[in-house]
Amino acid sequence: RKPLRVALLGCGTVGSQVARILLEDAENLGRRAGAPLELVGVAVRTLDARRDVDLPAGLLTLDADKLVEDADIVIELMGGIEPAKSLILRAIEHGATVVSGNKALFAQDGPALYEQADAAGVQLSYEAAVAGAIPILRPIRDSLSGDRITRVLGIVNGTTNYILDQMDSTGASFADAVKAAQDLGYAEADPTADVEGHDAAAKAAILASLSFHTRFALENVHCEGITAVTADDIAAAAEDGYVIKLLAIAEILTDDAGAAGIGVRVHPTLLPRTHPLAAVHGAFNAVFIEAENAGELMFYGQGAGGTPTASAVLGDVISAARRMVLGGPGRTETTTGHVPPLSIDTVRTSYC
Ligand code: NDP
Ligand code: HSE
Repeated sequence: RKPLRVALLGCGTVGSQVARILLEDAENLGRRAGAPLELVGVAVRTLDARRDVDLPAGLLTLDADKLVEDADIVIELMGGIEPAKSLILRAIEHGATVVSGNKALFAQDGPALYEQADAAGVQLSYEAAVAGAIPILRPIRDSLSGDRITRVLGIVNGTTNYILDQMDSTGASFADAVKAAQDLGYAEADPTADVEGHDAAAKAAILASLSFHTRFALENVHCEGITAVTADDIAAAAEDGYVIKLLAIAEILTDDAGAAGIGVRVHPTLLPRTHPLAAVHGAFNAVFIEAENAGELMFYGQGAGGTPTASAVLGDVISAARRMVLGGPGRTETTTGHVPPLSIDTVRTSYC
């Protein structure tokens, strides 16, 4: 079979691991995809930076625009809104399948991107954007599509879970825990997005949109990060049998007038130590789902880091490649918009 040409945009924490696995495990991946996956180029900002992967000479390029024009599959792992968005649109225009891990972009512009992809008949997927290695978007979109999800509770930011966990279990200071999370590759390029809750809010918006078959705008997510959480708060919570976790909560609510809508919020939450989410340590993530027929489900795994996230990215690549090889039409993660967002005031609460 003719190889599928794969272009990689970004070779940082995640991109370098995707490149490494594509090169090291080429034979197996090609067998599972139904065609060889040929890495044809890796776009970066600087050619001479130190990389966590040994790339064959000539693969690195500064010309991302040209790279996407000549690829069958484009993997976007640069992060941020621009130029990632323009490059994804350019890839779609040229008929390429797109895989991304960019929650900031998909929380903000997902619907516009799906429309473009659907119009062009190409696939667009972003499993890695929420909860790293954990398969969560596809189960919500596909496996639970015959059910009615009523609530999603998630620890969806590895950095803040790591920081709170370090403060709780070792008494580390906030600053030292942030530095360690950066060194371990969990934090975003600017960790403000993690500690202020913006990264979790973007993931919450994506989870809410897919869970409730609507388009939930990021600006409707109530967002409070962990910067105000002190060592004293953590000690006081522990004394009462609680642990403080940054939770993303999306649920169907009824307001005073009885109208149903969706409330989505991110804030530090007191969880009883007996709750399953209280046992999620380090940079691990977990998503706890309540559905009318399935009941309670919990998805757990590594929520951040290069190699775990690369697993989710490559799952999307193989799945997309199979459909390309079989000649099936592209199908993106579209939402239909029949449940309205409900604006609610929220406070930091004890849960359960
Ligand atoms: P990094 O900052 O480590 O890497 C970004 C890469 O993109 C770098 O190689 C950089 O090039 C390249 N890049 C950035 N801007 C440009 C540009 N304008 N033109 C060309 N190349 C560019 O990010 P991560 O690997 O951590 O994250 C990538 C994406 O994956 C983000 O969307 C992130 O939110 C998401 N993600 C990250 C996870 C993680 O644990 N880190 C987990 C889940 C998702 P150069 O190296 O030359 O600077
Ligand atoms: N900075 C993010 C986190 C990376 O800590 O969860 C994974 O999306």
